[in-house]
Amino acid sequence: MTVHFIGAGPGAPDLLTLRGRDLIAACPVCLYAGSLVPAAVLDHCPPDARVINTAPMDLDTIIAEMRAATDAGHDVARLHSGDLSVWSAMGEQVRRLKALGIAFTVTPGVPSFAAAAATLGAELTLPGIAQSVVLTRTPGRASTMPGGETLTNFAATGATLAIHLSIQNLPRVVADLTPAYGADCPVAVVYRASWPDQRVIRATLATLQAAMEDGIERTALILVGRALAQSGFDDSKLYAAEYDRRYRPQTADSPWASWREGDD
Ligand SMILES: C[S@@+](CC[C@H](N)C(=O)[O-])C[C@H]1O[C@@H](n2cnc3c(N)ncnc32)[C@H](O)[C@@H]1O
Repeated sequence: MTVHFIGAGPGAPDLLTLRGRDLIAACPVCLYAGSLVPAAVLDHCPPDARVINTAPMDLDTIIAEMRAATDAGHDVARLHSGDLSVWSAMGEQVRRLKALGIAFTVTPGVPSFAAAAATLGAELTLPGIAQSVVLTRTPGRASTMPGGETLTNFAATGATLAIHLSIQNLPRVVADLTPAYGADCPVAVVYRASWPDQRVIRATLATLQAAMEDGIERTALILVGRALAQSGFDDSKLYAAEYDRRYRPQTADSPWASWREGDD
């Protein structure tokens, strides 16, 4: 029997992979992180499934539920919001399952930073502006940050920042980033990306705090960087007419001229 970790996506029930949907539908037991996983995703569970909200549970209790289910011959769907590779607490669950010899699989989900970028209609990596995206957060009540992972350190790179779990720390975010990015650097806050009550605030580092609206708390991402302007950048080489490349050799003596699909 297997515990299937499934990324449940950012909120919209149709932003779930087909594999995730099918696994949810096939598992008689479903454990979901109720603080962020929308109820509509649970509609994929079989009608008689045992569906458990793990928000009020501790790790021992969650693992005990998984163990009881697999001992009874049931597969388990374990849902966390967005993708499982960031801030899902999957790591500690996997460690316990390995120790208990319980099999597991991992099915990725649409991460909230990607949903927020889609809401903005934005590419976060633009030629000559930013070629990296840093997924980060600021310290919280339950989470300190490892020494080098400060906003000022990340800001020194000029990368696009996707700052999670930090909407309550806005004054600190602005203070830490302004020296490196400049007060006129574009910022977007996306609240509940892909949910029906999604909201977007576009501002600069200088104007962000005044632009914030009531009720934007918890499920919001702060995106910062010059790439958010979506202007002032070069076209990529990828589609440049004169660029000699494997799929579009420009001359008969191009190293790509004799290459055929499937050659390597
Ligand atoms: C515990 S983390 C989960 C991240 C998740 N695993 C992911 O892949 O995005 C929760 C944080 O992710 C961000 N977040 C999650 N869903 C979001 C959404 N729909 N819109 C905006 N931010 C979201 C917020 O910053 C929130 O505080």
